[in-house]
Amino acid sequence: MCGIVGYIGKEQAAPIILDGLSKLEYRGYDSAGMAVFDGDKINIVKARGRLKVLENLTQGGSTMPGTSGIGHTRWATHGVPSDENAHPHFNEKKTIAVVHNGIIENYIKLKKKLTDKGYHFKSETDTEVVAHLLDYYYKGDPMEAITKVLHRVEGSYALGIMFTDHPDQLFAARKDSPLIVGKSDEGCFIASDVPAILKYTRTVYYVDNQEIVRLRADHMHFYSVDEEEIQKEPVTIEWDAKAAEKDGYEHFMLKEMYEQPKTVTDTLSPRIKNNDIVIDELNMTDAELQAVKKIHIVACGSAYHTGVTGKYVLEGLARIPVEVDLASEFRYRDPILEEGAMVVVISQSGETADTLAALRESKARGFQVLGIVNVVGSSIAREADRVMYTWAGPEIAVATTKAYSAQLIALYLLAMKFAKARGTVSDADFEQMIQDLKRLPDQIELLLNNKEKIQKFANRYIGAKDVFFIGRGIDYAISLEASLKLKEISYIHSEAYAAGELKHGTISLIEEGTLVAAVSTQPALYAKTISNMVEVKARGAFVLAVTCEGNKEIEKAADYVIYIPETNPYFANSLAIIPLQLFSYYVSVGKGCDVDKPRNLAKSVTVE
Ligand code: G6P
Repeated sequence: MCGIVGYIGKEQAAPIILDGLSKLEYRGYDSAGMAVFDGDKINIVKARGRLKVLENLTQGGSTMPGTSGIGHTRWATHGVPSDENAHPHFNEKKTIAVVHNGIIENYIKLKKKLTDKGYHFKSETDTEVVAHLLDYYYKGDPMEAITKVLHRVEGSYALGIMFTDHPDQLFAARKDSPLIVGKSDEGCFIASDVPAILKYTRTVYYVDNQEIVRLRADHMHFYSVDEEEIQKEPVTIEWDAKAAEKDGYEHFMLKEMYEQPKTVTDTLSPRIKNNDIVIDELNMTDAELQAVKKIHIVACGSAYHTGVTGKYVLEGLARIPVEVDLASEFRYRDPILEEGAMVVVISQSGETADTLAALRESKARGFQVLGIVNVVGSSIAREADRVMYTWAGPEIAVATTKAYSAQLIALYLLAMKFAKARGTVSDADFEQMIQDLKRLPDQIELLLNNKEKIQKFANRYIGAKDVFFIGRGIDYAISLEASLKLKEISYIHSEAYAAGELKHGTISLIEEGTLVAAVSTQPALYAKTISNMVEVKARGAFVLAVTCEGNKEIEKAADYVIYIPETNPYFANSLAIIPLQLFSYYVSVGKGCDVDKPRNLAKSVTVE
């Protein structure tokens, strides 16, 4: 979490930094700050609160003249959100400024050593030790000081550093926290993520672990921690610059929900050729696909929820046992990975610390890892043995929608590929499924166009205290995601329950008028879910049902029904989630919440 931006070039730095930070607020937004060199000294302005506060304080950057600087938007880990704890941090002489994303794990030890040597700390952050440690080692050569510091600090970092003595240079360094640098005719840039600089350049370089970059206005050089120069190839970013803008929509979340038909098409169509599924990046023969004995899916948050759906689809279609784990659990539970196991990690950002650690744990045990990743060039994309990209483009809203939808598609494709190779699906069913997959984008569009109806319904629940989502099988997986969406952005307490499990406890929470959303998209389970709906209705619940067209029977047990178009039951998640995303969105809007930046959350969780 936290976002960093740096610029050195011909233009005024502050407005460029502010603009870049505005694209990174999804990474954290409890305080923000900037350091700019004014030709004589480094000035820092920083403040608790949203980036808007910093923009106002600096009048859009105009009160901070200078053509080189670094900026930061924070998601607090060490130290409460406050002006003092906001980055950048100075050394005592105010000649070295630092911004940091990550955690310096041995900061207490370093802080004690520095304090003993007479250094005074102004903040509670781990980052401030980097500023003082640089000061301690700095004898005139910034590279020497930086390399010494990198040898002393443990943990993760993406750093932006500037020295008053070297105003023509900026420095960046990275270990386990994302960092890119970019170059245009106007200058060089540092950023945590591509959207921050997409407006200025498409030429970027991915900084690898324990590398240092020295940036000047017109060129940059890369070094290892041992100061050896490294040659790097630039990557051209293909994203449409508009993809990182709101483009007329009230919120990024709404825009991204509307991008789902395209996201699904983009993830699907390159992999369907002549009515067959071609996943070149999987690079596995049929014999290899047949040899897989078990799949472990590992992820966090919504990506974990797609994994739960993936389990039902992979097991159902390809008859392979699948275990799904939360990455934070998997990494520490000494998982049993047996011969023939394959590990699949799923991540939008490709930077989630726990997912990355799970990947490394699996590789260390000698298992091949497939990454289903959205951000090209991210850490997971680079470290996985194979990468299947979800082509969702940049996702800015903290609550994921389009990346989630793209992950589902990747899992369907994978399941069908396995099923075909293993002979667990007939040719006729396989062909029908391809047709069903191709119809999904239009069907999603149809559901999105029904938004007014959902909005009206959502407005009735703005004051809700608790909402429950229930379902069986894939419908349970859908419920998990629907419930997470609601609580993330509207702060309404919500739970997802396997419908059959309800009466083992949760049913005691149902009161007169409590909203229970029953997801019922699996024809084989229609009758079972209806029984559970009747049970909650009898206890006063208001029952919303999300089901497939034709399931008229459900109207007897539901107070309100949302129908989704008919599809293969394995793919129903892709449709049923749309009205439920819209529901959460409109409840959040109705409550006046900050939809795109919900409190306490960050989009990319790069700490454990
Ligand atoms: C955060 C986000 C979630 C996301 C999860 C995993 O909690 O708020 O939306 O699902 O991280 O992120 P990843 O980038 O690994 O998919």
